[in-house]
Amino acid sequence: MARPTSAAARGLRVLKPSADFQRQARLSGLAAYKRLHAESLRAPDTFWRRMAEEHVVWRKPFHEVLRWKPPHAKWFVGGSLNVAENCLDRHLGTNRENQAAIIFEGEPGDVRTLTYRQLHAEVCRAAHVLENLGVGKGDRVAIYLPMIPEAVVAMLACARLGAIHTVVFGGFSPDSLKDRINGCHAKLLITADGGWRRGKIVELKSAADKALEHTPSVQAVLVVKRTAQAVTMRSGRDIWWTEALAGAPNSHRAKAFGSEHPLFILYTSGSTGKPKGVLHTSAGYLLGAKLSSRYVFDLKDNDRYFCSADIGWITGHSYVVYGLMSNGATVFLYEGAPNQPGPDRFWEMIDRHGLTILYTAPTAIRAFMRWGDEHVLRHRLDSLRLLGSVGEPINPEAWHWYHRLVGKGRCPIVDTWWQTETGSIMITPLPGATPLKPGSATLPFFGVAPRVVDERGREVGPDQDGKLVITRPWPSMLRTLWGDDERYRRTYFGEYGEHPDWYFTGDGARRDKDGYFWIIGRIDDVLNISGHRIGTAEVESALVAHPAVAEAAAVGKPDDLKGQSLVVFVTLKQAAVATDELREQLRAHVAREIGALARPDQVRFAPALPKTRSGKIMRRILKDIAAGKPVVGDVTTMEDVTVIAALQDAC
Ligand code: PRX
Repeated sequence: MARPTSAAARGLRVLKPSADFQRQARLSGLAAYKRLHAESLRAPDTFWRRMAEEHVVWRKPFHEVLRWKPPHAKWFVGGSLNVAENCLDRHLGTNRENQAAIIFEGEPGDVRTLTYRQLHAEVCRAAHVLENLGVGKGDRVAIYLPMIPEAVVAMLACARLGAIHTVVFGGFSPDSLKDRINGCHAKLLITADGGWRRGKIVELKSAADKALEHTPSVQAVLVVKRTAQAVTMRSGRDIWWTEALAGAPNSHRAKAFGSEHPLFILYTSGSTGKPKGVLHTSAGYLLGAKLSSRYVFDLKDNDRYFCSADIGWITGHSYVVYGLMSNGATVFLYEGAPNQPGPDRFWEMIDRHGLTILYTAPTAIRAFMRWGDEHVLRHRLDSLRLLGSVGEPINPEAWHWYHRLVGKGRCPIVDTWWQTETGSIMITPLPGATPLKPGSATLPFFGVAPRVVDERGREVGPDQDGKLVITRPWPSMLRTLWGDDERYRRTYFGEYGEHPDWYFTGDGARRDKDGYFWIIGRIDDVLNISGHRIGTAEVESALVAHPAVAEAAAVGKPDDLKGQSLVVFVTLKQAAVATDELREQLRAHVAREIGALARPDQVRFAPALPKTRSGKIMRRILKDIAAGKPVVGDVTTMEDVTVIAALQDAC
């Protein structure tokens, strides 16, 4: 993707919030934002105390806002709460009680609505079932479900019991599911027979069965019936969700848990072959998700909010479940593909359900562009009032298309930068306050202190590339990596020896003269393909597990649609022959090992890989070669320079 350059340099307009939008916005005008942001940094204790008291329902008040012993933070010390109660019970007895919490549409077109009262009853029933299965405080529960209401119910039931959920995206392979279950020793797995995707069944139960052959910690499996094809149910272990819930009471007395009680683990890719189990805890995470949802999406009682991210990613956690439901919002949940049965599925649903906010990813926007304007133009889209983007830098062309075709020039776009680790949105416009520059995530959210620095930690000048760091703790930050605190320290707080309290994001960025942030993308060994994080090391270790492969290196190549595409360079063992068939086998092999999202776009056979004299693969060179660019920069450390020409010829 083209690197974003500053709006001024590209001669682009700055788009001020419209008077219409400002009139109704929760926060109007840049001055109001600046005042609050300045206060959040000048007097963080006062600011966060006020926010936490106003937005969180406490069972017991906290007595200390922050205890910060870098790199470990404890927020709202001494307080206790129940996160599910914060998302559900607080709305009972209010006029939200009978408002839709979830409007669900399955890919085949089935629609189901759950009010806050109904969702509460379901969660209570599920909590009883989990308790009867022996799940309690601190136990881990794996969730491997399609985008159906039961996924939300399962998450909130865990939260209600103080059990820690780990949601695994339904597109991950049995092996990936197995690794995640074993990584946290989950006691229970909640899955479904299958889910609908592009008119076909994604066979979740049979994938889970494969994983379960090697997961000794799992004692029981709850199975939601969604697609109704035949599945194997192992007696003594597998239980149908509906049958189990049928007899359970629809009220449940929730216990309170400490502010720092773990809420969930979410595995994400890092720069080694082993995914990282990002741990989020209760009060700080909830407050970050709630506050950002309210201000970034300018939430109002009559909004109908649609986030197209799967529940298996952090976006689904924070901006489908916790942030939205703690605000009592109506969330639209869609199970399937955006082009099923036709490329206008989103637009058709937006009109039919009167959806007001759409939060999606640049890769989806670029796909819509490619499918053709006519599919969008056929629909009114007059219910929409706000658009959002997340997951990767949005190129100005896609931004303008989204703004013009979908938002009809009327809807502000919030380009939100954040990460699994940050828990909630960090750099973002506030739609009634922030003038927009297409391609920039704009300014930091309350309490967020980002800086762009060089290798030695010195702040770089305007429009200079550097590394993005966050120089203060914030309530929804990750607390550690599950079972590997050392890796947590090293990865996030080990970058600058002189600043052991700086969080290193792994992203490159630039700040313009107005203080606007332009995110360039990952500068570590993590790729961002269609908005999904994939670790190069994970792909490489999958490849070298194949009997024909001697060595492998994975790199990203700029791609108009996906942001980056995945190119792998492979050297073969002596007995293996480079054929097209083997190439296909290797692509399928990676998809099987990790999941279809990691299927390489290109496999290039090479006689050798470029290495330093100490044997480290020179990824920078492979990136240039994959992109078809001449190899520039220093190659003096290279062991054998003739490798470059051989690689350029290889295909
Ligand atoms: O590189 C940044 C990119 O996505 C990474 C985080 O990925 P993940 O943890 O999977 O979370 C995705 C959803 C929050 C970041 O390090 N990224 C995310 N949002 C943006 C972005 N890059 C540019 N602009 C964004 N708005």
